[in-house]
Amino acid sequence: MSAETAEIQTDLREQVAQRVRALGDWFHNLDIGGVQTAPDHFLGDYPRVKWRRFQDAIPADLHGKTVLDIGCNAGFYSIEMKRRGADRVVGIDFDEKYLAQAQFAADALGFEIEFRKLSVYDVHELGEKFDIVLFLGVFYHLRHPLLALDLIHQHVATDLFIFQSLQRGSEAIELLEDDYEFSETDVFERPGFPKMYFIEKRYSGDPTNWWIPNRACVEAMLRSAGFDIVDHPEAEVLVCRHRALPSGPRAIYVPIRRDDYD
Ligand SMILES: C[S@@+](CC[C@H](N)C(=O)[O-])C[C@H]1O[C@@H](n2cnc3c(N)ncnc32)[C@H](O)[C@@H]1O
Repeated sequence: MSAETAEIQTDLREQVAQRVRALGDWFHNLDIGGVQTAPDHFLGDYPRVKWRRFQDAIPADLHGKTVLDIGCNAGFYSIEMKRRGADRVVGIDFDEKYLAQAQFAADALGFEIEFRKLSVYDVHELGEKFDIVLFLGVFYHLRHPLLALDLIHQHVATDLFIFQSLQRGSEAIELLEDDYEFSETDVFERPGFPKMYFIEKRYSGDPTNWWIPNRACVEAMLRSAGFDIVDHPEAEVLVCRHRALPSGPRAIYVPIRRDDYD
């Protein structure tokens, strides 16, 4: 490489580094032309370290497929879906700062991805269903997590649903009866009973951590919302398939102002 070429590359890298800094603090560590966007992430090279643990559970060739990435943040997973050849990838997030990062990263890396400012509670506005829906790292940030699952099931999911949530408590799974007498109370104490921990104040300094399920709860809520669990490639990640729901008492989406949910 000539000294001139090396100088141009250094200039380009400095320009990227300046844009990355100008776009604020990054949660996703992306490599954009040799510039790391979040090199000091508290979870390491995140989310690449996570992705490596479940990437083989998603088809390697996504040609002909459409993907929706809910809570896409700076677009790490949207970009990975596009790398696998997905025809169309839509990333939604309600945070404009993250969407600006995602748009910059996708443009700089040469991936055509549609990013939209949209809350998970408003997915009906997309007016479209997707072959693959990613719902990674968002569930526990919601005040109404089961409503979100119901809305995703009803409005945007058709086949594969890739889910990840922070989990705490027991990892036990217990086979439960279909029904219990009103006098039965011991079952609630069992480690394998589905439980969600409500965080009134903060967890890990983050005021948006609202509900943290145990493993049994994640699985039960997914089944209850119409998602069959077909793979469990990583402790927090479940691969599911959309299943038609029999009619029954479920949460029903009544459109109200988005602010009421956020
Ligand atoms: C912990 S990050 C996870 C990002 C990415 N999905 C991942 O797994 O690395 C949570 C993301 O969800 C977004 N988010 C939180 N609540 C949301 C909502 N109601 N609708 C859409 N996005 C939301 C946040 O802005 C943030 O980008």
